[in-house]
Amino acid sequence: MSAETESPAQPYDQGAWWRDAVVYQVYPRSFADANVDGEGDLPGVLSRLGHLADLGVDAIWLSPFYPSPLADGGYDVADYCDVDPRYGTLADFDALVAAAAAKNIKVIVDIVPNHCSAEHPWFRAALAAGPGSPERDRFVFRDEPNNWQSVFGGPAWTRVPDGQWYLHLFDSGQPDWNWRHPDVVAMFERVLRFWLDRGVAGFRIDVANMLFKQDGLPDVVPGSQGGPLTPGHAPVPYEHQPELLDLYRSWRKILDSYPGARGTVAEMWFGHPDQARPYLSGDGLAQLFGFGLMPAPWSAEEFRTVIDRSHRLARETGGSIPWVLGNHDVPRMVTRFGVDQDLVRAPTPEVLLGRMDVDVELGTRRARAAALLLLALPGGAYIYQGDELGLPEHLTIPDEARQDPMFERTLRTFIGRDGCRVPLPWSGAASPYAFGGGDTWLPQPEDWAALTVASQRDDPGSTLNLYRAALAIRRDHPALGDGDLTWLDTPPGVLAFARDPGFTLMVNFGAEPVPLAWHHDVLLASGPLEGDLLPPDTGVWLS
Ligand code: NOJ
Repeated sequence: MSAETESPAQPYDQGAWWRDAVVYQVYPRSFADANVDGEGDLPGVLSRLGHLADLGVDAIWLSPFYPSPLADGGYDVADYCDVDPRYGTLADFDALVAAAAAKNIKVIVDIVPNHCSAEHPWFRAALAAGPGSPERDRFVFRDEPNNWQSVFGGPAWTRVPDGQWYLHLFDSGQPDWNWRHPDVVAMFERVLRFWLDRGVAGFRIDVANMLFKQDGLPDVVPGSQGGPLTPGHAPVPYEHQPELLDLYRSWRKILDSYPGARGTVAEMWFGHPDQARPYLSGDGLAQLFGFGLMPAPWSAEEFRTVIDRSHRLARETGGSIPWVLGNHDVPRMVTRFGVDQDLVRAPTPEVLLGRMDVDVELGTRRARAAALLLLALPGGAYIYQGDELGLPEHLTIPDEARQDPMFERTLRTFIGRDGCRVPLPWSGAASPYAFGGGDTWLPQPEDWAALTVASQRDDPGSTLNLYRAALAIRRDHPALGDGDLTWLDTPPGVLAFARDPGFTLMVNFGAEPVPLAWHHDVLLASGPLEGDLLPPDTGVWLS
């Protein structure tokens, strides 16, 4: 096998823990339910910290737990500096941070700066104060709407009784802030400090590419929405405004004024590397999720294209782009990889409604191989809760139980994101699988008994133990974590790279077994090997 040379490395701050951390995403409503009301809570997270310590993650990211009417699962924040009573109290939060620290687990929290909840006191004040008031100026009110569409479907404007319209790029329960208003800037600085003072190791920044809107709110030019920045392609007027860079530089200063390295990771889907490049310099936030693998079909070539693009961008800029295979916004990978992959490339209306054939066994094999890839790639990685159990998407939630606003806003043409947000199964043979209360806020499938943490714990071949083993090796192996990779020449359908010193990753995406690369030892395999052959849909770590 021959090697290709990678681009030269850039210097960076070695103290930045997030550059090679494995971060576990906790969706608090669905992790563990200590007060047995059917919804997860912070004491529930605390009670299950042992699972996360055994797994071996470096940090947890808590999705929003702030007071919220839950128009969008808590991404509609009514109070940025408190805990929703359904999730506990600030004292519970402090206890969780302290208990996690005792297990060497950092906590990062979600900050939602593009919009708040329609129940936020400043938005209520804006509605009460009327057109032309300073209160309305903190949001985006207009006498006439423009043509902007909500990311969730339908218009991005809602009319209030006095005739004005307010902007909401997501649900109508999520009014957008006016980031050119000094009150908004100052308020979010207070919010950052509030959580930094409570010991968070950093923030995940929701829709970090929006916030500022182009002056004059020009209409979106047809064809520009979400598109890559290529010549002749109009930028979207509510994305990537130049003020964002200064804002994030000012946030970096706040983070750096605290002891210990405090990081951020920006949620930003970028169509083209040039859109992401400016954010990745060291005086800003310098870390963006690498989402490219999530929409990628099971294909060695397509995976390699995504990996090259992100890795090269990270190397060129010195920034950090942690890898992601799942989160609370996309169908679970067992299901993505278990369908006809042409449906991943171009979802049909049936797929949007979850009505397609899924080969869960095949999807599970591939998801396990993908986990070995994820954890062998240079840089940090995110694991979405339940992916370590190999949970599939729950596709048969009854319509009346669905909670995601996307379901109604797309006029029920897309079932939405509830299927990956189902409460976790911890033990037992039937729902609620020791999650907590009897009636879980989203129903759990009836066939998850074999997927519970308890039933996987003692099974050496379980997905849970594959993740545990991979994380244990990753922690000690000098080649893993941040650094570089060298692609190895392989037959079509196979992905293989070497990392120094002495580590090789191979994944067989093809249909036939292939010879293993030269090695002394098999460190870990995602499924049974056939002697010196790597079977289809299998990944392996070699040394
Ligand atoms: C991205 C979050 O991940 C998603 O769940 C949410 O609906 C939108 N941002 C709006 O806040």
